[in-house]
Amino acid sequence: MCVCGGFVWKINILDVLIIVIWLIMVSRTERGYDLVAPVYDFAESPFEVFYFRDMRKEILSMVSGRVLEVGVGTGRNVPFYPDGVEIVGIDFSENMLERARGKAVERGLSNARFIRMDARNMVFPDDCFDTVFSTFVFCACSDPVVAVREMVRVCKPSGRVLLLEHMGSTGLLGRLFIGFINPFMQVFLDEDLNKRWDVELRKEGFNIVKTRDVLGDYIKLIELEGTH
Ligand SMILES: C[S@@+](CC[C@H](N)C(=O)[O-])C[C@H]1O[C@@H](n2cnc3c(N)ncnc32)[C@H](O)[C@@H]1O
Repeated sequence: MCVCGGFVWKINILDVLIIVIWLIMVSRTERGYDLVAPVYDFAESPFEVFYFRDMRKEILSMVSGRVLEVGVGTGRNVPFYPDGVEIVGIDFSENMLERARGKAVERGLSNARFIRMDARNMVFPDDCFDTVFSTFVFCACSDPVVAVREMVRVCKPSGRVLLLEHMGSTGLLGRLFIGFINPFMQVFLDEDLNKRWDVELRKEGFNIVKTRDVLGDYIKLIELEGTH
């Protein structure tokens, strides 16, 4: 029973069920990221310190010219943007973008803009970026192939499309780890860490220049040609 300002509410199992279903409905995808934005950096920090930081440094050392970051999130890559590049970051969660903008201001970047946009339907014209990249986005995107096609479309034919992304793992440790956290990620963020969408990319005929396993076969760095 809950007493609030003289109002008495008897909580029963149906109320609990409705609250849980409502929480799940409002917490998926963009709304999910809007909700987790305030705690995202804190929750992710152990992975950041031990693994992600060096991976971010590596992928950011490969970008040049006019650069598009897809699914920029809270701007975890902002500290590693090379000097002298022009960056446009997109994400469909405004609360995540707010944090990315804050990090760019902290770093004193005047050549970075952050825009709310769906990666699967970008408003940019064809062939307008030298590098298009993403880090840890496509486990949270329902149509990764559609989004990657958009990335290739907006990249110049001479440019590079770089993906640093989670994939389903075939190793025992990877499978155990993913098996443990995946149910929570699927329910609350619609993320499926088991997706093997790199296989779909091959089937769909994308020009994959290089693929490298960065952490077991769980995190891969994939480079695609900008030709389409
Ligand atoms: C796991 S976070 C990763 C954030 C950041 N790239 C990083 O490395 O920390 C995934 C991000 O992708 C964004 N995202 C997922 N699907 C998207 C889509 N279709 N369009 C734009 N952003 C998307 C989410 O809002 C979220 O900020």
